[in-house]
Amino acid sequence: MAEHISVSQISKYIGQEVTIKGWVYNRTDKGKLCFLLVRDGSGFVQCVAFKGDLEPEVFDKVMRLPQESSVIITGVVREDKRAPGIPGGYELGVKQIEIVQEAAPEYPMSLKDHGPDFALDHRHLWIRMQSQWAILKVRSTVMAATREWLNTNGFLEMSTPILTPAAAEGTTTLFETEYFDEGKAYLAQTGQLYNEANIFAFGRVYCFGPTFRAEKSKTRRHLTEFWMLEPEIAFCDLDGLMEVEEKMIQHIAQRVMRDCMAELKFLNRDISKLENIQAPFPRMSYDDAANYLLDLYEKETDPERKELLKFEWGMDFGAPHETELTKLHDKPLFVYGYPSAVKAFYMEPWPGRPEVCKSVDLLAPEGYGEICGGSERMSSHDALLARIHKEGLPEEAFKWYLELRKYGSVPHSGFGMGVERVVAWLCGIEHIREAIPFPRTIKRVYP
Ligand code: 4AD
Ligand code: MG
Repeated sequence: MAEHISVSQISKYIGQEVTIKGWVYNRTDKGKLCFLLVRDGSGFVQCVAFKGDLEPEVFDKVMRLPQESSVIITGVVREDKRAPGIPGGYELGVKQIEIVQEAAPEYPMSLKDHGPDFALDHRHLWIRMQSQWAILKVRSTVMAATREWLNTNGFLEMSTPILTPAAAEGTTTLFETEYFDEGKAYLAQTGQLYNEANIFAFGRVYCFGPTFRAEKSKTRRHLTEFWMLEPEIAFCDLDGLMEVEEKMIQHIAQRVMRDCMAELKFLNRDISKLENIQAPFPRMSYDDAANYLLDLYEKETDPERKELLKFEWGMDFGAPHETELTKLHDKPLFVYGYPSAVKAFYMEPWPGRPEVCKSVDLLAPEGYGEICGGSERMSSHDALLARIHKEGLPEEAFKWYLELRKYGSVPHSGFGMGVERVVAWLCGIEHIREAIPFPRTIKRVYP
């Protein structure tokens, strides 16, 4: 019996007889030859059936096999530069084929182009397509590389709750649910506050899970359910935080280039752009960024663009502003020291400038914008309490959070990385909804 192999490993089996188990992705017939592009979950490979090698009735069936039929194929691996597939460059000369199920005809996600709504309605099938498969493979690699870097740099993974009693990132964007006799509970917008408790027990921690935002944003960068990685570090200031971020992002990019080169090439990603992702990343203060943007705005003569670039000190950046700033470099850019008014309540004020906070966003180049948001946290009990009052937040709900500042408070910092935004950037795709298997947006909870 031939060895059952994964398509991703096929280059190790040249000249050998092997078995692959998978699904027919595409079929082209050329008289006595039938080319099947077969996918097995690990990759896509061309299998060539020659009429003379198979029983006549078997060959006849193969010639009529519908897309997505499941098959077990045994054959000999050949190197052939022209052979399509991912990784591509290899083919299997079919000796034996077992049809596990002949798929129903008229597969809805045929290989022609589909409109976005149709594709999203058929997401359960769309994920089988080469482009979607490649993106989601990169996603899995990004997640594995993230954990790998954190686990080897002294971080412990702590799971934080998804059902929470109060808002952490502003009150207007919460999904709400009844919670037995306890009143309302909310789906977590962040695990950060709980991680701030965790660092006093474990030093360096991270949580990695789904995050929920009910904001009515319909942009290509927003999901209502997305995955966020949140490291939190004791005895760490804003500079220390940026060093952690850039090292981790560099590691992720390098892992993706090592493990997903075939997928990136299939997606036509410009690899040279990814090779630039090397620490240290440039750092720019909000003040400098604001001056630069103001200047751009004032010089702009096209009225439509001028409206988009409208800016004054104190504003949060819009997507066009972020795009302009990142054009200054070919690496991700740190912008630090935002006005406190546009950031969350827990951020440490800038020494001597209370209107500014020790916050930092990491902006990805090529128009991808904010991929990480973080800050040094307020470590003084009284300053934090005053801020909670000023924001009109329920003090009762933050009693435990305030208590962290009473027993061994230290400077500490953390950030959140949006997984889908990183994946969309590394893959060079337009919309982050393709960077998660089953996207949730304000218009979609199906399938
Ligand atoms: O900047 P955000 O809102 O930061 C926090 O929630 C902090 N509590 C994180 C922390 O310091 N532990 O979100 C962090 C990142 C953003 O930079 C972005 O990449 C991603 O999460 N993100 C979203 N991704 C997809 N859809 C959305 N609606 C997102 N909102 C934020
Ligand atoms: Mg943010």
